[in-house]
Amino acid sequence: METKNVGLRDITVADTKISHIDGKKGKLIYRGYDVLDLTKNSNFEETAYLLLHDNLPNKKEFEEFKKKLRDSRQIAPQMQKNMGNWRKEAEPMDVLQAFVAALAGYYNEEGSAKEISYQRAINLIAKVPTIIASWDRIRKGKDPIQPDYNLSHAANFLYMLKGEKPDKELERTFDVCLILHADHTFNASTFAAREVASTRAHMYSAVSAAVGALSGELHGGANLEVMKMLLEIQNEKNVEVWIKNKLEKGERIMGMGHAVYKTVDPRSIVLKELSKTLAKKTEMPWYEITKNVEDSTVKFMKDKKNKDIFPNVDLYSASVYYMLGIPMDLNTPIFAISRVVGWSAHVIEERFAEAAPKPMLYRPKAVYVGKYDGPQGCAYVPIDKRN
Ligand code: ACO
Repeated sequence: METKNVGLRDITVADTKISHIDGKKGKLIYRGYDVLDLTKNSNFEETAYLLLHDNLPNKKEFEEFKKKLRDSRQIAPQMQKNMGNWRKEAEPMDVLQAFVAALAGYYNEEGSAKEISYQRAINLIAKVPTIIASWDRIRKGKDPIQPDYNLSHAANFLYMLKGEKPDKELERTFDVCLILHADHTFNASTFAAREVASTRAHMYSAVSAAVGALSGELHGGANLEVMKMLLEIQNEKNVEVWIKNKLEKGERIMGMGHAVYKTVDPRSIVLKELSKTLAKKTEMPWYEITKNVEDSTVKFMKDKKNKDIFPNVDLYSASVYYMLGIPMDLNTPIFAISRVVGWSAHVIEERFAEAAPKPMLYRPKAVYVGKYDGPQGCAYVPIDKRN
């Protein structure tokens, strides 16, 4: 017998009402709304409400939701003190994973299991940006900046990171990035969160597992690798040769290709425009270089492998974050600032879905291809008789 479902591609494991990808048409839907429409008309906080609650909020619901988020932004000073004990070279994703798990040690939400899950979702969405910004400042020997209650989610993060309030254009650029990354069906990190939640472990535990899954370079870690690639390429003129060398060696180009989209990832369309606009504003070369990376990869794959390949969300987000002045190794943590909304919504759905088929503990099977000599298995040899 041979394993048929390596990587679980095309295997459906649950019903979800949260988001949908049409990989052939290049569409991403959040709770019935096209993500491209949300980037034009909505904002991150409203999108977060939508993903958590299955509908857009009315004015009162929205004000209450925003207030809860703003009231929950601060993290315990003891957490910031503890960060001071970490090596300053520690990976921000490792710090984030640890401090997300640690939230359970600092906060004690009360109510029914479902109410507690919603409170934890608010706590996570509000506090993940504070954890990341605090760590960035602490590792640089600076004092963390307290959240500003009057700023939006997007503006407050940039303020806590840099100590300066962003202008409206930069705030909106970052806000749109957050909308675009908020959910993406059963991607690796969301599946990790749901898998942990299926054991009835709590939300902080499930989300901390998701942060770990997001850190890998084939998933959220790709946007950091894209920026490293752009810096290595340095100049538009070097792109074609650089890409050809990599692909001829059988290596992958980060930010290209997708397990589900077999056409353009709609998020990359918006990010490409944001990158272009920021490049004009900052007079930096990163948009042009990225565009050449896209074109050269598409051409090589078509000519040499007869394969169509398209940019994914990470290709243009890397240059956008770089031009926003965000340290490169925060690219993946920033993904988490937004995706924590999706993770939370999925954990709640995993635990409390009412319609059949109700989720159950994930327990896939594997084909055993290890040793087993004869009908009795391997004969046990005492240690002093082994070679
Ligand atoms: N560079 C070069 N070749 C590629 C790339 C790439 N980025 N992506 C796919 N291919 C090639 C593979 O080598 C493979 O060829 P082979 O079968 O001859 O070995 C073929 O295309 C497979 O294509 P798919 O089935 O469409 O892709 P798959 O599902 O295997 O992989 C993945 C998807 C992991 C995202 C892949 O495209 C990749 O590694 N991309 C680079 C990493 C990246 O950008 N990850 C971020 C994804 S988005 C996200 O998680 C947020």
